[in-house]
Amino acid sequence: MNQLILGDNLEIMRKMDAETIDLIYLDPPFFSNRNYEVIWGDKGEVRSFEDRWSGGIDHYIAWLKERVAEMHRLLKPTGSIYLHCDWHANSYIRVYILDKIFGEDKFRNEIFWRRTNPKGLAFTKFARNIDTIYLFSKESNNFKWHPQYKKYEEDKVNNQYSLIDENGRRYQLTSLLNPNKNRPNLTYEFKGVIKVWRWTEERMKEADLNGMIVVPRNGKGIPRFKRYLDEQEGIPVDNLWEDIPNIQGGSQEKIGYPTQKPEKLLNRIILASSNEGDLVFDPFVGGGTTVVVAEKLKRKWLGIDQSVQAVKVSEMRLNNAQNLFSAPFSVTLHKYDYDTLRYKDAFEFEKWIVEQFGGIANVHQRGDMGMDGKTREGVPIQVKRSDNIGRNVIDNFGSACKRFDNNLFEKNKVGGNPVGYIIAFSFAKGTIQEAARLRNEENIIIKLVSVEEIVPIAKKPKLLVKINDLGVVSKPVENPLTPLEQGGTGEVIPLSQRGTKGVSLREIEFIAVGESEAGIEFYSWDFEYSEEATREHAPLFRASIMLDKEGKQTHKFKPGTHNIAVKAVDNEGLEAIEVVKVKVNGEVETV
Ligand SMILES: C[S@@+](CC[C@H](N)C(=O)[O-])C[C@H]1O[C@@H](n2cnc3c(N)ncnc32)[C@H](O)[C@@H]1O
Repeated sequence: MNQLILGDNLEIMRKMDAETIDLIYLDPPFFSNRNYEVIWGDKGEVRSFEDRWSGGIDHYIAWLKERVAEMHRLLKPTGSIYLHCDWHANSYIRVYILDKIFGEDKFRNEIFWRRTNPKGLAFTKFARNIDTIYLFSKESNNFKWHPQYKKYEEDKVNNQYSLIDENGRRYQLTSLLNPNKNRPNLTYEFKGVIKVWRWTEERMKEADLNGMIVVPRNGKGIPRFKRYLDEQEGIPVDNLWEDIPNIQGGSQEKIGYPTQKPEKLLNRIILASSNEGDLVFDPFVGGGTTVVVAEKLKRKWLGIDQSVQAVKVSEMRLNNAQNLFSAPFSVTLHKYDYDTLRYKDAFEFEKWIVEQFGGIANVHQRGDMGMDGKTREGVPIQVKRSDNIGRNVIDNFGSACKRFDNNLFEKNKVGGNPVGYIIAFSFAKGTIQEAARLRNEENIIIKLVSVEEIVPIAKKPKLLVKINDLGVVSKPVENPLTPLEQGGTGEVIPLSQRGTKGVSLREIEFIAVGESEAGIEFYSWDFEYSEEATREHAPLFRASIMLDKEGKQTHKFKPGTHNIAVKAVDNEGLEAIEVVKVKVNGEVETV
C-alpha cells in the first residue's frame, strides 16, 4: 500500500527489503547553517538539523552517505536515483557519495535546474540561481529511460516552421539525403535525381503518395520532406532545465513552506525514469510533492519524513487531490490515536494487534474457539476491542485454552509459562484479581496485555473554536464593475468591494484553541467542509489553509449557512477536528 511514514529515514530504510524500489528522488536538507534550513521547526526536524550540521561538511557527508548507501540497496537493478542539491555540497556529494556508492560508470546526468530568475546585485560574485540534480542508475546499461520533450518557444518555432499549408498547418522542408555516402541499397533515382537517400525507395514513394514530399524550385530542385510542427513531440530536454519555474507567490500548488519543489520538476523526473505501476520513493518527502505527482502519474509511492508537520501536510495535500486517486494510502506516526483504534473495524483491529504483538492472526473470522490468533509457539491469543474487560472473559478463556490444545496447556502450566493471552484496552479490577488468583491457586497463567503495552497510544488533542462577527465588509454593489479579464470595463475595483451584485459579504474571525500534552503544531482550515460521507470514506477534510501556526483566520461569507472545519495537529501527528456551522444573514449565528 502507498505509505507516508514519520521517522528518521535511515532507521526505516534499514528495515526495508532490498531491491524493491524503481525510482528514488531525494531532496535532502542542504548543507547550510541557515535558519531557512529548519522548515517546520518541530522536534523531529530540529533533531535532524542538529545531527547533520554539528560537525561541518565531513559530518554532513557522512550523515548523507550512510542514507544513500541504504537507498542503493533498496533500488532494483533497473532503478535510478535523482539527488537534488546545490552549490553548498554538490561537488562533495558527487565525488564522495555517489561515485563511491554507485560507481562513476553509473553516472548519467548532472542536471542544472534554474530555480529563480537572476536577482540581486552581483557585487562580489555571479548570482547563484541553480540547483544541481544528479542522476545515477544502479546498473550502467540496464535502466528505465523515456526521453522527455519540452514545448517549442513560439517565436523560434515560427521561424523554423515558416511554411503554412492550405489547412493552416505549419511545416518546414527538411533534407531527405543520407549523410552516409556509401549506402548502395539507398542509392537510386527519385523524381529524376540520383542520390543516396535516407529511406528505401518504397518508403519514399509512400511518403510521396501521402503528399509529404515537395520538389522545390518548381520541380527542379532536390526533393525534400514536409515536416509538420504539430506532429513533433517538442524539443528533446537536455540537462539544462530552465523551463520549470519555481513555485510562485500566487501559485495553486503553494502550500506556504520554503523548499517546496514544483510538481513539474517531479513530473519530468518520474516520467523519464519510471513506468506506470512502478514504486517511487522519496526519503525526504517534505510537503509531499513527489508522492502527489507519483499518484497522479499512476505510480505506487512511499514517502518518509522526520517532521510531523511534513507528514501531516503531505497527507492533507494528498487528501485535497483525492478525486484523482484510486488507491488508498496509510500514514504511520509514532503514536496511535486511541479513538481511531477503538472504532476500527473489529476484525481488522484483531488481526493488526495480534501481528503487532508478534503473533500470528487467525485468518478466519469465526471458529478456532473464539481465538483471534496464537503466538509463534502456538499459545492462544484473544483480543477484546474494549475497555474494562470483565471477569467472565477470563473464565471462558481459561477453558477455551484447554480445549484449544490440552497438551500445550498442561505443558505451559507445569513449566510456569502463560497458557494464553488476552489483549484489551483495559481490564476491570475483578479481572486482574481473578488472573492473580488463577496464577497463585491453580498455577494457570493467563496474561492480560493492554493495547498500550504493545503499541504507543495517545489521546487526540482537544479543540475549541471561538467566532467573532467583524461585520459587513462589502455592501451590495449596484452596478458592479468588473476587471477587464472578466469582460468588464477594466477599472480595478478594490477587493473589498467586489461583492456579487446585490450580495453583501460578512467577515468572521475564527480562533481555534487546541490542547494536547504533546503540544499543538499547527491548524488547518476547510471553509467549505462537506459533512457528506460516501461509502468509501468519512467526510473529507480538504484544507483551504493547510499550515496555520496561530490558529486564527478571518474569512468572508455570503449570506447563507456555511460549514467550517478546523483541524488541530499535535506533535505526535494526532489531530482533532471541530466543525462550526454559521448562518450569515442579518446576524451571524452558530447553528
Ligand atoms: C528540503 S525538504 C524536502 C522538500 C520536498 N522536496 C518538497 O517538495 O516539499 C527536506 C525534508 O527532509 C526532512 N528530513 C530531514 N532529515 C531527515 C531524516 N533524517 N529523515 C527523514 N526526513 C528528514 C525535513 O523534515 C524536510 O521536510
